[in-house]
This record gives sequence, C-alpha cells and structure tokens, in this order.
Amino acid sequence: MKILVTGGTGYIGSHTVVELQGAGYEVVIIDNLSNSNREVLDSIAKITGKYPLFEEIDLRNQKDTFRVINKHQDIEGVIHFAALKAVGESVDKPLEYYQNNLFSLINLLGSMRKNSIRNFVFSSSCTVYGQPDKLPVSEQAPLKKAESPYGNTKKISEDIIEDTVNTGIMKAISLRYFNPIGAHPSTLIGELPIGVPNNLVPYITQTAIGIRDFLKVFGNDYSTPDGTPIRDYIHVTDLAKAHVVAVNRLLKDQFKKDYEIFNLGTGKGYTVLEVIKSFEKVSGTKLNYTIVERRPGDIEKVWSDTIFANKELGWKAEKGIDDMMLSAWNWELALKKSKENK
Ligand code: NAD
Ligand code: UFG
Repeated sequence: MKILVTGGTGYIGSHTVVELQGAGYEVVIIDNLSNSNREVLDSIAKITGKYPLFEEIDLRNQKDTFRVINKHQDIEGVIHFAALKAVGESVDKPLEYYQNNLFSLINLLGSMRKNSIRNFVFSSSCTVYGQPDKLPVSEQAPLKKAESPYGNTKKISEDIIEDTVNTGIMKAISLRYFNPIGAHPSTLIGELPIGVPNNLVPYITQTAIGIRDFLKVFGNDYSTPDGTPIRDYIHVTDLAKAHVVAVNRLLKDQFKKDYEIFNLGTGKGYTVLEVIKSFEKVSGTKLNYTIVERRPGDIEKVWSDTIFANKELGWKAEKGIDDMMLSAWNWELALKKSKENK
C-alpha cells in the first residue's frame, strides 16, 4: 500500500517514513526542501534498505500538486507534515505562514478529492490549547485564541479538515503533538535546525558541543516547582510510530468517527531546569546556562492527557526524558563527526 508523506524529508516526516517503510508501506514523499535536504533520502535508505519515492514540488503550487498526485494513482492515504513551523518567525511573516500552511493544505485536499484518496492524517499541535485551564489537557479542552499566526494556521487547518470530512469524501485524524525531541537511534536522521535554534533541546546540545556560548533559560518566575516552564517532551520515534497506528486505523476501518483528534504526548511534564539536569546526567557534560527574562508568548505549563490516545489507538509513548536527551546528544555528536569528515 502506498502512502504519500508531505514534508517527508523534514524532522518528524523522515522518522515517520522510516517507521512506515518498516511496517511494509511504500512511501512517496513530497517536499520542496525549504527546510530539509535531499541527503535525508540516503539516510532513510541506509536505515530501511529502501529509498522512498521522491517528488520535489511546492504544495503551494496547485498545478504541480495535482499533477504529482494524479501521477501516483495508487495512493491509499496521505500524512501531511509539510508546513512552516517557527513560532517567532510567523509573528513577523504572518502572510507567508498563512499562505504556505493553508494553501498547501487546500491544494492537497483538493487533489485528494480529485483522485478519490480517502484517508488523511494531519500534523497539528498542542499549541491550539494555549494555556489550558485544566491539566493534563485532554482533547475535549476548549481551544484558546492562538498565540501566533503559526498556531492559528493549525487551528484553521483543523477546521478546514473537519469541513472537508463533513462533505463525506474522506476520513481524517489530526494528531496534536506536544514537544517532539530526540533522534533516530541510528543517528542517521534527526532534527537539523537551520541557523540559531529556537527550541530548547537543539539549543542545549549545540551549547554543550561548543557551537553556542550559553543557553538562555527564559524566566524562572513561573508558578512551577523550580520557576521554569513545564512541557511534555516526546521522543520523535514514539511520535513517528503513532502515525503508522493512525494510518492503519483509517485503512483498516477501525476509526470510530470520520474525523478524530488525538493528543500525542507522554503525559509527563518537565521543567526547563529538569531537562537540563537530565541532559547533564546522560551526557556527562556541564551545561553553561543563565536565567534571563521570559520569552514573549511562552505559556507556563502544559502536559497531555494521554488516556484517549492510549486507549483508542493502543499506542503509548515509551521513551523517558533521559532516553530522549541521550538520543539528542548522540545526534549532535554524529553531526559534528560528519562535519569533520567533510
Ligand atoms: P520540518 O521543517 O523539519 O519539516 C517540514 C517539511 O515540510 C520540511 O522538509 C519542508 O521543506 C517541507 N515543506 C514546508 N513547506 C512546504 C511546501 N509548501 N511544499 C512542500 N514542502 C514543504 O518540521 P517538523 O518539525 O518535522 O514538523 C512537521 C509538522 O509537524 C509541521 O506541520 C509542524 O507544524 C508540526 N509540528 C511540529 C512540532 C515540532 O516541535 N517540531 C510540534 C507540533 C507540530
Ligand atoms: N526555552 C529556553 N531557552 C531556549 C529555548 C527554549 O528556556 O533557548 C524554554 C522555553 O521558554 C519553553 C521551553 O524551553 O519554556 C520549550 O521551548 P521550545 O521552544 O523548545 O518549545 P515550545 O513549547 O515553545 O514550542 C514547541 C514548538 C511549537 C509547537 C509547540 C507545541 O516550537 O511549534 O512546541 O507542540 F507548537
């Protein structure tokens, strides 16, 4: 069975392609390489023994999207990762974010309709909850006004998908990710932040390896045990596996509703200082960090209610924070080695 993976050379997409191929699916990737590179295909092939099919097109281009999907007549399902994802950048470039994330989605859904492809999995985010009133946050929690244009693209995308499903042409699952971190155990694929990382874990590993001088911890005056914000970090391979489960659920008619939404987290929250402590423990490296002002737009704390995903999907995140930090560190070490060998 053939699955189309948009954004399949990206961070979460590449890990998911590995899991899909491991589960016996044939994969076609669409990516415009705006935030990834072609060598990822070689790495996927090294891990799985098989190259995925690859189409380098921009999903904003309706003609190209229709052409490519029409060419692969036997696609059974689509997993849609392709999007711009930098929260801060989206505040400065809202139109680029709405254009990229929404036009891509609309072109993709239109092409699926034209080709009668009926199964769709979407990358959403826990950012749609904002600062929840109740923790852990469940799928039933009310959605808050988005904190950024990026977050708003996820909210609007979920609405577009629901409206499309309501026309009866397809079934869909939106997966709301908490904070994906870490890398594949092979260290052949992982997160490749371009420029200065925005996210905590790549900033930690780049500081420890000497690319950055010190980590700024954004605020220690939150109402949490050590004053730093709490997030639900999830290993990217655990997250990737959930996509295989979601695709199977759609293809094997195991879904309960035509449009379903699941949280993907571990259910455990860690403060920034706890993440640093875990990193120092598993890497044996002391991290240089300093406390600075809060980062605008950051919420105080969020972690996932995992009951629905665990029960309904029969999926559970397995890796703990130390495993995640060790795999992120091993990936950073492997990147350094490969740079030195070039
Ligand atoms: P990523 O940037 O590594 O991967 C996205 C891929 O999509 C990239 O390879 C990029 O080149 C491609 N792409 C972007 N716009 C495109 C377009 N118009 N046409 C074709 N290809 C395009 O990001 P990621 O971390 O793997 O995120 C994947 C998805 O998960 C995104 O939708 C993101 O919003 C969502 N998500 C990510 C996180 C996170 O923290 N990483 C959290 C929640 C949700
Ligand atoms: N942090 C620091 N210093 C840094 C970077 C981050 O102290 O240099 C702190 C932040 O203040 C926050 C925590 O580390 O408290 C996590 O921050 P990240 O930037 O790693 O992650 P966010 O929770 O802000 O956002 C991420 C993605 C979003 C996604 C969201 C939920 O960037 O795209 O998770 O999935 F929407």
